[in-house]
Amino acid sequence: VPGSPDSPDGITLHGSRICVGAGLLDACGVTLRATVGDRRLAIISDDIVAPLYAARLAAAVGGPAPRVFVIPAGEASKTRMQWARLTDELLAAGFGRDTAILALGGGVVGDLAGFVAATFMRGVPVVQVPTTLLAMIDASIGGKTGVDTRAGKNLVGAFHHPALVIIDPSALRTLPAAHWRSGVAEAIKHGVVASPAEFGWLADHAGSIVNAEGRDDATVMHLVREQVRLKASIVARDERESGLRKVLNFGHTIGHAIETLSDFGRFHGECVAIGMMVEARIAALAGLADAALPESIARVLLAAGLPTTPPPSMSSAAILEATRTDKKARGGVVEYALPRAIGAMAGADRGYAIAVADGIVAAALEAAR
Ligand SMILES: NC(=O)c1ccc[n+]([C@@H]2O[C@H](COP(=O)([O-])OP(=O)(O)OC[C@H]3O[C@@H](n4cnc5c(N)ncnc54)[C@H](O)[C@@H]3O)[C@@H](O)[C@H]2O)c1
Ligand SMILES: [Zn+2]
Repeated sequence: VPGSPDSPDGITLHGSRICVGAGLLDACGVTLRATVGDRRLAIISDDIVAPLYAARLAAAVGGPAPRVFVIPAGEASKTRMQWARLTDELLAAGFGRDTAILALGGGVVGDLAGFVAATFMRGVPVVQVPTTLLAMIDASIGGKTGVDTRAGKNLVGAFHHPALVIIDPSALRTLPAAHWRSGVAEAIKHGVVASPAEFGWLADHAGSIVNAEGRDDATVMHLVREQVRLKASIVARDERESGLRKVLNFGHTIGHAIETLSDFGRFHGECVAIGMMVEARIAALAGLADAALPESIARVLLAAGLPTTPPPSMSSAAILEATRTDKKARGGVVEYALPRAIGAMAGADRGYAIAVADGIVAAALEAAR
């Protein structure tokens, strides 16, 4: 990936820039206008983030104040209903083809507003302005947008690459602890799938990062930059998830099943943490990874205060059943992205998508309890 996220040009991914810098939220006007020109701007945010940051972003872009459209905070808003409401409100407010959407918030806002942008007038530019750690290092990068349905997570959506990503880590100062942990789960995932060095760094720093007294701006900036680089470098090599990018699904087949079964009452990152533990055990049971791999992942997850065991209220049979509606199921066979070792994924010859027998998944679920 050419450039670095903190150079004036940022990282360039599929022709769009990802800029990382403290204070960018108030200083992104020139970059933003250079990207979207004189398009009419609509900010989409949620009812926690909008009062904190929408006025600052609006002031930074200058010109006529952008309209702010607000959804209720939380995963329960990532629906077709909210998509319909937002698109209706945009139309009622007279927005047309010359619109650009600014997605200001966590991954829920990013995915939903991105899907609005992908479909409104058959597609208008979206600028991602992520405000959670998870959205900064993962959801805002790579162009996946969409909504949840009763059948499962992210089952309706589109690829719509952001025209620009503006990442201001100082916005994380107001992020609640549970969402720091949730973001760190995806960071640990990036380490497992692509970087032993990053995994090692997280083993040393995850504990202090999730702790408000332990974290400092320089460490957070380092984390965000490295993570953005990692995610962008994986996506850059596989825009539409035909192969390599599938490694990012590690922890997500089981994770999404648990998230769906919890009726989205558990945070995404927590579910991914549990999913990584179960899937690391699958890899070990299937003979792909060393038997000690699950333990080394567990140590870092536990240091970050993340859960490592499936909720007792969910039977292994129910979790197994819920994996079948996953997007990663092909012809009824559920596929997994499984690690060989820290920083190395199995199944390069099979596009990193490995079909696993039910018996092994069930045994891994039991072993994880
Ligand atoms: N598109 C992708 O590639 C991708 C990747 C990973 C995850 N996701 C999706 O992202 C979603 C999870 O994202 P999330 O964890 O950011 O959840 P989220 O958007 O619900 O944000 C978490 C909570 O933090 C609040 N919040 C956000 N920024 C804040 C701030 N700076 N200060 C205080 N509060 C703040 C939000 O209002 C919300 O209540 C899931 O739907 C997941 O599927 C998408
Ligand atoms: Zn995820």
